[in-house]
Amino acid sequence: MTTIGTTEHPLRVAIVGSGPAGFYAAGQLLKCKSHPDLCVQVDMFDRLPTPWGLVRGGVAPDHPNIKAVSRVYEKTAAHPEFRFYGNVEYGVDLSHADLVERYHALVFAVGAQTDRRLGIPGEDLPGSWAATEFVAWYNGNPDYRELEFDLSHERAVVIGNGNVATDVTRMLALTRDELATTDVADHALEPLAESKVREIVVLGRRGPAQAAFTNPELLELGEMSDADVLVDPRDVELDPLSRAFIESDTATTTAKKNVEILRGYAAREPSGKPRRIVLRFLVSPVEILGYDRVEGIRICRNELVEDESGALRARRTEATEELECGLVFRSIGYRGMPLEGLPFDERRGVVPNDCGRILVGDAPLRGEYAVGWIKRGATGIIGTNKRDAQETTDLLLEDLDAGRLLDPADPDRDSLEALVAERTADLVTYAGWEAIDRAEKAAGEPHGRPRVKLCSFEELLDAARAAERVPR
Ligand SMILES: Cc1cc2nc3c(=O)[nH]c(=O)nc-3n(C[C@H](O)[C@H](O)[C@H](O)COP(=O)(O)OP(=O)(O)OC[C@H]3O[C@@H](n4cnc5c(N)ncnc54)[C@H](O)[C@@H]3O)c2cc1C
Ligand SMILES: NC(=O)c1ccc[n+]([C@@H]2O[C@H](COP(=O)([O-])OP(=O)(O)OC[C@H]3O[C@@H](n4cnc5c(N)ncnc54)[C@H](OP(=O)(O)O)[C@@H]3O)[C@@H](O)[C@H]2O)c1
Repeated sequence: MTTIGTTEHPLRVAIVGSGPAGFYAAGQLLKCKSHPDLCVQVDMFDRLPTPWGLVRGGVAPDHPNIKAVSRVYEKTAAHPEFRFYGNVEYGVDLSHADLVERYHALVFAVGAQTDRRLGIPGEDLPGSWAATEFVAWYNGNPDYRELEFDLSHERAVVIGNGNVATDVTRMLALTRDELATTDVADHALEPLAESKVREIVVLGRRGPAQAAFTNPELLELGEMSDADVLVDPRDVELDPLSRAFIESDTATTTAKKNVEILRGYAAREPSGKPRRIVLRFLVSPVEILGYDRVEGIRICRNELVEDESGALRARRTEATEELECGLVFRSIGYRGMPLEGLPFDERRGVVPNDCGRILVGDAPLRGEYAVGWIKRGATGIIGTNKRDAQETTDLLLEDLDAGRLLDPADPDRDSLEALVAERTADLVTYAGWEAIDRAEKAAGEPHGRPRVKLCSFEELLDAARAAERVPR
């Protein structure tokens, strides 16, 4: 039997998706402390011509420091045994069978590509947007550049109490000058700078003690140059169950601090800034109102009840009210999508897996793994994906040692390259991405911006063509 992982027979791994999870997994395999002599080749595929996943397409434009994490991924990409195949979509350009034929192991790192649904009437009215769409639009994802957001309305409602909701809220409240120094997509800059939105109401279905915001993100809402933050003091008077929770050892420091921050907001007098961010709690949307576009939202008051597991969940009451608004952003979480050739857990929106080993029923699928949001659901910050990827790559190496990987008929790298060339005329190699990166940074420099993003497939592919067409 051939030993895999030698210079003659390198371990060939395909990673589908080039976001944080995919890059952490690649880095861990290419610099593997437990197997120092292992010879590994990592081929990474992404459907977009650009790498970094949500670090490019999710992280808010006014958070440039967070995007600097891509420097870690650049180091991984510089490894001689790493290849990037951009603009190659798994399930379209390459099938499951194509990969099984060519790799010893497949790692799926495709993230969560769609949004969770509220399931209420009016959800699809024009003017009701998933945060996933708004985020992808202002961040220059080429699939979303044609969207048009009508920001001529006075009031927007953001549903959800997570960090994506804080991103959406800030983006609606930044000034032209603040936006102008970011890498926000050019097609979004002018509409956002000219926005007539004056009040952004953020709706949490549970209370201040259960909000999913992290402290710095919640604090930022209180530091906007153009917007006052408003919290009704009655909303921060905790109900008995929440009070007991927040005073107990089970409450996280984040939850305790969030309550403290919100109490501080409730005690503030508005200073008369042109915009208002209103944080409301214990309310759920029941219907998005309007005839041919959003004109308002009906919300109901909730109370908290303890479920069988002891968690506090929201229960609707009969009390309802209507709020006039022209825009609704549904920010209640991202959701994974099914992948060709793989099982899918519809309820959780993930590929079923046991610590990263993909499962069919209860049995692991030989040589196939998941990392990141498609493995555990759409939660966790960038760093969470490092630990998560480590768990998966440790199992992959355990399976290598136990002879439990795939046995590909054609593991030669040339065979893969010939196949990719046959399936797509517009492959973007890592050198192609570097050419895009240089072009974007050069365009940003005269304006004091980190980059001016190229936002259509055409522009991106044109810029990539400036580089050598063959993979390094
Ligand atoms: C709006 C937003 C803002 C965020 N801001 C922060 C922040 O400021 N700080 C922080 O720490 N965390 C932040 N996060 C969380 C962080 O972005 C995630 O934890 C992380 O990106 C998840 O990594 P992933 O690799 O699983 O998925 P992703 O980053 O989504 O990467 C998945 C990749 O797979 C590719 N792909 C998908 N389908 C296919 C296919 N069929 N074929 C080929 N490629 C495919 C996608 O194009 C993408 O490049 C934010 C998340 C969101 C949604
Ligand atoms: N700056 C940053 O670090 C940053 C920025 C953006 C995102 N992220 C991370 O990315 C991950 C995803 O963020 P996210 O904001 O999309 O998700 P999230 O943190 O899970 O928040 C989702 C919010 O939606 C609410 N919700 C869910 N279903 C609902 C419904 N049917 N009706 C009303 N509300 C509903 C949830 O309330 P319940 O709690 O009641 O379920 C929760 O408040 C998080 O881990 C986040 O921290 C980080």
